[in-house]
Amino acid sequence: MASPMQETRLAIGTDSIEVQWRDGSESELPFLWLRDNCDCDDCRVNQTCEKRFMLSSVPADIAPADVELVGDELVLVWPDGHMTRYKGSTIRALKPVVNEWTAWGSDFEPRRCDFGSFLRDDSAAAAAIADFLEFGAMVLIDAPVEPGTLEQLAPRLGPIREVLFARIHDVEVDATGYNVAHTSMALPPHNDFASYSWPPSVQALHMLANDSPGGETVIVDGFRIVAELRAEHSEAFASLCSTPVPFREFDDDNETYATAPMIQLDVDGNVSALRFSNQLMQAIPPSRAGAAEFYRAYHELCRRVNAPSAKASFRLGAGHVLVVASHRVLHAREAFEPVGRRHLQDAYFEFDNVRNHLVVVRRKGVRND
Ligand SMILES: [Fe+2]
Ligand SMILES: [Zn+2]
Repeated sequence: MASPMQETRLAIGTDSIEVQWRDGSESELPFLWLRDNCDCDDCRVNQTCEKRFMLSSVPADIAPADVELVGDELVLVWPDGHMTRYKGSTIRALKPVVNEWTAWGSDFEPRRCDFGSFLRDDSAAAAAIADFLEFGAMVLIDAPVEPGTLEQLAPRLGPIREVLFARIHDVEVDATGYNVAHTSMALPPHNDFASYSWPPSVQALHMLANDSPGGETVIVDGFRIVAELRAEHSEAFASLCSTPVPFREFDDDNETYATAPMIQLDVDGNVSALRFSNQLMQAIPPSRAGAAEFYRAYHELCRRVNAPSAKASFRLGAGHVLVVASHRVLHAREAFEPVGRRHLQDAYFEFDNVRNHLVVVRRKGVRND
């Protein structure tokens, strides 16, 4: 139901305008903001919709010479005669972007989507990607079991984010492997390449053959664990946000090393990434202030990451591709008996690109409607 129209009000301060719109909502609009965001043909590059006006071309204390609210339109005239018009609805629609996510535990089953449909059918891909953004995991089924198949996902998820070692990683039992993944031992929950300042934010794990008993795949919702830790142990959460931890992954030919806290926050204090890898973690200098507090906090985080209630497990069969939002979702593997062939390939992508592909696919859908 539309809210009843109210009296509009305009109050001009020393460096901003307060507007009460017809729907009763209010906006405080700094003069410099109003000048900077002028949408007219002179202030934009028409061809590209990019901003052309440069803020430093006006004085920092600029104030409009005239302001009027005409219906739902704010009309300003600047001292040099330049005119700016804003639709109230445009201003009111500007809101901070919040990434919505839904927490899950051991009973979670990632959405499944046919690999071929995901590549060819825009609406199937859009539904799968939207679900992936919300839950941080999906499984593509009936993929070819040919090496290099992950290259085909680049138009939907990519481009591939390359790291040292290989563009597409082979994970098989290998006596010369550089990582515990190349043994048949259990792999505890982790995300890959914590040894980068910006670890890959999406990982695709493609099973080409899985003929060995055991080796179930496990995923853990890291955001849920961190949210619960924050609510129940705020001091432990603070320590994990502020203590830099070194991580290293290397072999004879490659060296990757980064130091960062295990929990990363955005400027609004929302958790933006969890960095967790027992196998890559290096010793923090014991002389670092707060080392003892950090270790108590890390113990609590470890306990929660490895709790059965956190682990959703399933078997990744040949032709299955598990895709995880890897700044959020940790992956793991149970131990297996290396009696049959087991071959996994993985490749990395970036979450921003996946999210932006969804926007483009939806835009295409609207155009075709
Ligand atoms: Fe991994
Ligand atoms: Zn303008």
